[in-house]
Order: sequence, then structure tokens, then C-alpha cells
Amino acid sequence: MSDRLYIFDTTLRDGEQVPGCQLNTVEKIEVAKALQELGVDVIEAGFPISSPGDFESVVEISKAVTWPTICALTRAVQKDIDVAAESLKYAKKGRIHTGIGTSYYHIHHKLNSNQDEIIERAIAAVKYAKKYVEDVEFYAEDAGRTENEYLARVVEAVIKAGATVVNIPDTTGYCLPTEFGEKIKFLVDNVKGIEKATISTHCHNDLGMATANTIAGVMNGARQAEVTLNGIGERAGNTSLEEVVMTLKSRYKMLGVDTNINTKKIYGTSRLVSTLMNMPVQPNKAIVGRNAFAHSSGIHQDGVLKNRENCEIMDPTDVGINESSILLTARSGRAALNHRLELLGFKLDKEKLDKVYDEFVKLADKKKDIRDDDIALLVGDATRQERRIKLSYLQVVTGKSMMPMATVRLDIAGEKFDATSSGNGPVDAAIKAVKQIIHREVIIEEFLVQAITRGSDDVGKVHMQVEYDDTIFHGFGANTDIITAAVEAFLDAINKLPVAQ
Ligand code: KIV
Ligand code: ZN
Repeated sequence: MSDRLYIFDTTLRDGEQVPGCQLNTVEKIEVAKALQELGVDVIEAGFPISSPGDFESVVEISKAVTWPTICALTRAVQKDIDVAAESLKYAKKGRIHTGIGTSYYHIHHKLNSNQDEIIERAIAAVKYAKKYVEDVEFYAEDAGRTENEYLARVVEAVIKAGATVVNIPDTTGYCLPTEFGEKIKFLVDNVKGIEKATISTHCHNDLGMATANTIAGVMNGARQAEVTLNGIGERAGNTSLEEVVMTLKSRYKMLGVDTNINTKKIYGTSRLVSTLMNMPVQPNKAIVGRNAFAHSSGIHQDGVLKNRENCEIMDPTDVGINESSILLTARSGRAALNHRLELLGFKLDKEKLDKVYDEFVKLADKKKDIRDDDIALLVGDATRQERRIKLSYLQVVTGKSMMPMATVRLDIAGEKFDATSSGNGPVDAAIKAVKQIIHREVIIEEFLVQAITRGSDDVGKVHMQVEYDDTIFHGFGANTDIITAAVEAFLDAINKLPVAQ
């Protein structure tokens, strides 16, 4: 069996399904190009039948990317497959990923069908997809909860129909590592023709076992792993690319399986995805979290200083975390900023670099310790599309034993509007003033404030979820002034509302 694991990245499909993480086509192309540089083998670019935006993204990513395979998701439905094939017409290497639920729950309570009929539908979908492309991947949705004997029948049938890859998703994140590993082994041992296809894992993290299950799958014969950067994905997310890749690299002697990933690009790509998707990486996240290599206890610091290997199983530079010797301050020039941006995985044209540089200088005047996360935020701001409603002025008067008051001025499509309001706190006052201007019945459902690093001069980040007309909209804002960040987050969400007639 080959000792190479193919990395199938689904950040742009399963990862992008997270509410509030949606990217536009330009941003998706940027991520796809970064994934190509990272060295992933397959990019799942979208679910083309689901929306015109997804269709367009698959088309544009197919044009923009040169060597990885571009994959489009479908249900086991002819119309889905027709649309997916159309979206892949510019792909140098295209793959259709079709499939159907195989667990008792899916067959009886979702598809209202029976086991034999599901096998017929699976075979028909694979044969239909084969008319368009040679490379067809089949997924047995909820394979994690499908009994192994039936799963083996399904897998054997789709390989016979021409599937080149068979995907075994633990859709609900239910399996234990030993159980998942045994499932893959059962297929290896019992499916006639299994050597003609690659077995793929696709594990969700509902019980925190996605990476363990994926590695168990690899140890038992899977040679493709479906993953996302930073482990993003619906609910508790998908298996994280960086964890699987670095487990294989760090434990190569034990596992004997390798990938094509340029691990030095992991950190930069992780930051790019986090920034564009407005999805913070938890500080203790393995490999890419802010604290992943930060030793704080005295015993550990002593150990690391004597010899790094005393306490570290990986070298941070292997994943692209470089302590830059160039400190960025208000006096740093464009070249120094650009150098740091490149280390972080951002390649900006002159116009964007100028924009980021202007904001960088303003921030560096307010905050002396400019960190990588701050820079990533500035890039996010500069590349975000021009908003219709902008905050042009905000003044807040607040303090102990007084009624907070806020005055805001909004620029709406070039016209200026002012309002003043009181509130039970400065954020409440400012949001009420904004609401006086926009006249929309918007309810704030979630309001999350975070500081990025340390220190009272830090940049505050605000994520907001608002409800309007039974629909949820997400907004994000960042500023050293957290009231401004909150208003910016609110306006970011408001800008996504349908324009009033
Ligand atoms: O989790 C899952 O089962 C999926 C399939 C559509 C591959 O994402
Ligand atoms: Zn999934």
C-alpha cells in the first residue's frame, strides 16, 4: 500500500457552511490559491446546485488553480450532477463527489427508502457522473453509524460502477477511534475490488475525536483524508488539516505515511482563512493557536531554554511560525510591512498594500506592540467590499453614575445622517442612535467581544449576530475602541440586509 496520504481540503465547502463564514468568489479564489501553494491534492470548491454563488465559485476556482484536482459536491440526483459537471468545465482535473445516506436513520427517516433501493440509487449516480468525468468520488453519508456489512455492500457496488474514491464520512462525529479504524479495516478485508479505489475519511468533531478517527482510518488503510483549515465546519467542525499533517510528520517513524503539504505554509494559510472568514482561532488550538508553542510555566521555560526537545515535539518554524526579528512600529516602512505580510501568507497588490499601510500607521500610533493578528485584521478590513452604510463619526459620553449618551453620524450611499441617544451603557446608546437612523426592526441575538492579545491598548474584536425578518445576519468589527468595534460589527451585519425599497 502506498505511503502517501492525499489531502482533500473542504474548507471552501464543508468549512464554509458555518453561519457567518461565507466568502465571496474573490475571497474563495484567494483561499484556493493559498491551498494550492500549501500543497493540498484536492480542493472541494463548492456544492454547485445549492446556489448561483457556489456554482460561480467552482467555475472561477477551476480557472484560477493549476494543479490540484477541483471537486464539486452533489446529491445522488441527476440534475445536481449535470450542474456540477458544467461548473467543472474549466478544471484541469475535475472530480464529481456524489453520494447518499446509508445509515438506518438516513434510509428510513430521511430518504424514506430501503437498503436495496439506496444501493441502486448509488450505482445510478456514480454511472451518471462517470459520463462526465473519469474521477468520481462516492460518499456514504453517515457511514459512521452504518453497519459494516451493509456499508461493504454499498462500497463494493459503487466501485464496480466506477467510483475512484470511496468516502466514509463520520457525519455526526459519533465513532470512537478503534471503531472507525475497524470500519476501514473491515472494508479493506471484505470489499471485492477495494484495491481499485482510494478509501477516504471525512470525520466530524462532535465528540472531539475527528483527528483521532482520521488517523485511525489512515492506520487501517485510508489514503485520502478530508479536512479543513483550523478544523472549521458546521457544529464542532471537521478534522483539521494541520493536526493530521503534523501528526503524520511528527510520528512518521511510527505511522510511515506522508503528505505533499509544505508544512511551513500552514500557519500563514490558517491566518488567511481565519481572517477572511472572521472566524477566530481558539488560543489553545493545536498547531495554529496563539498559545500552541508558548511555554508559560517556569518548569517548561527552563526545559525549553536548556534544549527545545525537552518540552516540544515540533519545531514552530516547521509550521511557519517565525519570530520575526523585524519589530513593526509606527516608523516601519511599506517594505517591512510587506515582508511580514508575506510571512503571514498575504500577497497584496500595490493598491491594497497602500490601504493596509495607511491603517497600519494609524494603529501603530495607538498601540506599540503590533502583532500578526493585528496585521491580519487590517488585511481583512482592506479587502472587504465597500459598504453602503458607513460610520463616519461616533462620540460617546459615559462613566460611573451618569447616563451614557452617544452621537453617531452615518454615511448612507453618500448622504450624511446624525442621531443621538442614551442607553444603559455606551454600546446600547450607540446602537440605539444607529437604529434611529436606519429604521429597521433588527434584534441583536449574539454579541461577542474579544481582545486579541494582551494589554489595555489591544484591538477589540466584536462578532455580532442580528435577526431581521426571521433571518440571521452576521457582522464583525475590530478597533482599539471597543464601542467603535461594536458599532462597526452592527453596521457590517446591517449592510448585509436586503436594501429597503
Ligand atoms: O459530513 C458529511 O457526510 C458530508 C458529506 C456530504 C460528504 O459532508
Ligand atoms: Zn461533512
